[in-house]
Amino acid sequence: MCGIVGFTGSAPAAGILLDGLKRLEYRGYDSSGMALNRPEGLLCLRAVGKVCKLAEKVAAAPEELRRSCCGIAHTRWATHGAPLERNAHPHLDQSRRFAIVHNGIIENYQALRKRLTEKGCEFSSDTDSEVLAHLIAETYRGDLLAAVAAALKQVSGTYGLAVTTSLEPGRIVVARRGSPLVIGLGDGENYVASDVAALIAHTRQVIYLTDGEVASVTPEHVEIRDLDNLPVEREATGIDWDVSQAEKGEYPHFMLKEIFEQPDALANTIRGRLDFEMGTSILNGMNLSPRDLAAIPRIVIAGCGTSMHAGMVGEYYFEDIAGIPTRVEQAAEFRYRNPIIEPNTMVIPISQSGETADTLAAVREAAAKGALVTAICNVVGSTIARESGRGVYLHAGPEIGVASTKAFSCQVAVLLMMALLLGRNRRLSRTEGLALAEEIAKLPELVRQVLDRADSIRDIARRFAQYDNFFYIGRGCLHPTALEGALKLKEISYVHAEGYHAAELKHGPISLLDERHPVLALANDIPGKDKIIGNIQECIARRAPVLAVANPGDAGVRDLGCDVIEVPRSSRFIAPIPTAVALQLFAYYVAAERGCEIDQPRNLAKSVTVE
Ligand code: M6R
Repeated sequence: MCGIVGFTGSAPAAGILLDGLKRLEYRGYDSSGMALNRPEGLLCLRAVGKVCKLAEKVAAAPEELRRSCCGIAHTRWATHGAPLERNAHPHLDQSRRFAIVHNGIIENYQALRKRLTEKGCEFSSDTDSEVLAHLIAETYRGDLLAAVAAALKQVSGTYGLAVTTSLEPGRIVVARRGSPLVIGLGDGENYVASDVAALIAHTRQVIYLTDGEVASVTPEHVEIRDLDNLPVEREATGIDWDVSQAEKGEYPHFMLKEIFEQPDALANTIRGRLDFEMGTSILNGMNLSPRDLAAIPRIVIAGCGTSMHAGMVGEYYFEDIAGIPTRVEQAAEFRYRNPIIEPNTMVIPISQSGETADTLAAVREAAAKGALVTAICNVVGSTIARESGRGVYLHAGPEIGVASTKAFSCQVAVLLMMALLLGRNRRLSRTEGLALAEEIAKLPELVRQVLDRADSIRDIARRFAQYDNFFYIGRGCLHPTALEGALKLKEISYVHAEGYHAAELKHGPISLLDERHPVLALANDIPGKDKIIGNIQECIARRAPVLAVANPGDAGVRDLGCDVIEVPRSSRFIAPIPTAVALQLFAYYVAAERGCEIDQPRNLAKSVTVE
């Protein structure tokens, strides 16, 4: 949600910090700030709004202050305290010698604040985070690493934390519990960030901190310890993303770029994972033998938002293709509902970022209950990927747009390949497996065909952009696809959109239909289409404008007189992917027509690292 970046080296820090913050803006923001460390004192600048507001302040600061070569910075997404300048990070202690930036929530901050206030500390913000600056100043005895560790022992809650003090120029101390923190390794300079996207312009060698660790970062050294001051050895990890993948290039928005990247992203997801000899898939990261796979009695999928919708498509796959009873849990609910995990139950957490707090909590609960936790993540080395221990990466490249697009397609493709593997391990014949593998291999081309129709989708979207309410309806695997399409529309265009199973409309929601309330119906030519056509007729009879997704040449749908978005013909298992791509384009063009801030929709953050 909030973003952290820090730099220490011999180059001016301010520009590097600003660049890192801009790369993190997609995580969510309402204010930003930086603290530059110089022996003569810290310089702290903060601004409400986008990072460009902070950049204006940096540009106006005296030249000598901009020459500092060490600093920490932050983009804030408000939790405790309104988005005001005094609540923006960094926060300083009373002596103004210690600056902190913090992601997460300090749960016992009220008690700590009371104690510190009684001791004479004056607080200048409404945040939970500020207590950390005062605590660290209180525990400091000449070693920032030791002070941070001692302070954090008094704290409950979650943190990704970066701290600097004018008493130790050139040094940054970072810590993590429940909120990601990564150290980027340079030559005579080092970086810290909450997200590798902030670092890849400078280095691809990173060290991920794990929970309960503190690290000292200077231009020449990185030293990791646990909270009891015991040294921790950690190998650096190589990142295979390049800078251009994290930039918009010629596209007006990351979202559009990422929609158009889907043929390549899917090709990367699928590459080397289909076995056309045996009619199965090869998913080495699952690290399960055929005997292990055969012993799985049940699958539970946990995810949030788009990732949960992908999981709902996967539920159809695992039951239909592999015959394994499957249920999908909203990840936040998983640990509170005391789920039944039998021996060998496979729990599949799905998370693009690999950092979503609710999904991570589900991973921990599942692991504690002895499940086979097998994650589907995009970000290599992310917390969920690491803690799950086994899983399948998407290899979709960085997804920067807050609205998840290519991650959904690639998650669904991975779930289909998992179902193929499990199916072949059980009841699917080689011939059936081969047919499915061949269909999966064609996914990049199918999606390319949808993208070729972007102009016609844009024209339709412009006509529908005037409406303030939508229903999206679908059946079978296209029911979760409808949910996902509705989520896309509401999150970036602020148009109220609800996804329903098509059969559900007449059980209540249909009462809302009239000529101002369109219905987007997924009427692909797959089993259930006849029923959807009946549902479309019910909507038309209530004067609702209907926009159908259908296959080329499908007279049955066109004869109803509704507008049509065409997607290429495919089997029911494949259909969610090209259909979702068409819905992503539709949402994008509606939002563009309505003049919305597509990559940074209001109130949203890319990575939701608080519960
Ligand atoms: O990184 P994750 O996949 O765990 O994120 C889960 C959701 O927060 C995410 O999919 C969210 O719903 C997107 N903004 C949807 O576009």
